Amino acid sequence: MIDLRPPRPGDEKQVGLLLRQLGYDVSGEEVQARLSELAGRRSDPVLLAVDGSQVLGLVALHWTTMLQAPNPVARITTLVVHDKARGQGIGRRLVEAASVLARQAGCGVLELTTALHRADAHAFYRSIGFEASSLRLHRALNSGAETLSRVAAEEILMANLFDGLPAASQEEEVTDLLARDGARIERIVSTGQSTPLETPYDQDHDEWVLLLRGAAGLWIDGEAERTLQPGDHVLIPARRLHRVTWTAQQELTVWLAVHFASSSSPGS
Ligand SMILES: CC(C)(COP(=O)(O)OP(=O)(O)OC[C@H]1O[C@@H](n2cnc3c(N)ncnc32)[C@H](O)[C@@H]1OP(=O)(O)O)[C@@H](O)C(=O)NCCC(=O)NCCS
Repeated sequence: MIDLRPPRPGDEKQVGLLLRQLGYDVSGEEVQARLSELAGRRSDPVLLAVDGSQVLGLVALHWTTMLQAPNPVARITTLVVHDKARGQGIGRRLVEAASVLARQAGCGVLELTTALHRADAHAFYRSIGFEASSLRLHRALNSGAETLSRVAAEEILMANLFDGLPAASQEEEVTDLLARDGARIERIVSTGQSTPLETPYDQDHDEWVLLLRGAAGLWIDGEAERTLQPGDHVLIPARRLHRVTWTAQQELTVWLAVHFASSSSPGS
């Protein structure tokens, strides 16, 4: 018998498999992090179709208020049925359950976007009452320095460095903020990471770092290891081996790093 229920710890692997069948390679850790982020928001329910311990399908939903619409609008953001369980009514059941949740939340419309190449999915949606009514356009929001500096040149944008901070993650997150001839500015977010002892940084350019939040240890060849607190900044000259010896485990450590082109020196 097939039941519908929200995801539980331990479902990550099977959910990851379903996402791979949908064409997205998502690791177990990423699935876990995203499921727990969604679980914290009432407007983003996820339902799994399960047969005992087997996860056979999933639907994820998001609703939001739109200025122009009298009622919130709900959108199916993910729908997939295990390839061995298709054609048995599971997709229809998941969409019906999504409709019930959306209606309970006061939504007036249930919508979705679907890739142009998914002809089978289009036939499925049409057969359960969906109609094509709009054209979806999208543009990648590249966080690459080139795009951002081009946009910044066209418009004076204000942003906050603490916006969009990631949850704790395995990897340090590095985001390019701006690049100009001679300098590149990046935000680095660490959660407990450090530079491996055997591979210290050896850069051909000067780097200036400012610690904005959290705490970290920094070793620069020839100097005593130092502890950086918010507000502390330091210039790491080119060709000086250096390592981040530790970063705070229980909170995010946020850095601003300015990399100077190798031919320039600060103040020149
Ligand atoms: C699309 C998908 C979710 C449908 O789920 P499903 O469980 O196979 O569909 P159901 O068995 O509930 O089908 C419901 C109805 O749609 C119809 N249908 C399903 N696939 C169809 C197809 N390829 N062509 C025509 N009708 C189709 C069924 O005939 C059924 O109608 P009926 O109840 O009158 O017999 C599933 O095939 C899937 O996961 N596909 C790959 C991922 C995907 O494309 N997801 C959507 C991304 S936008």
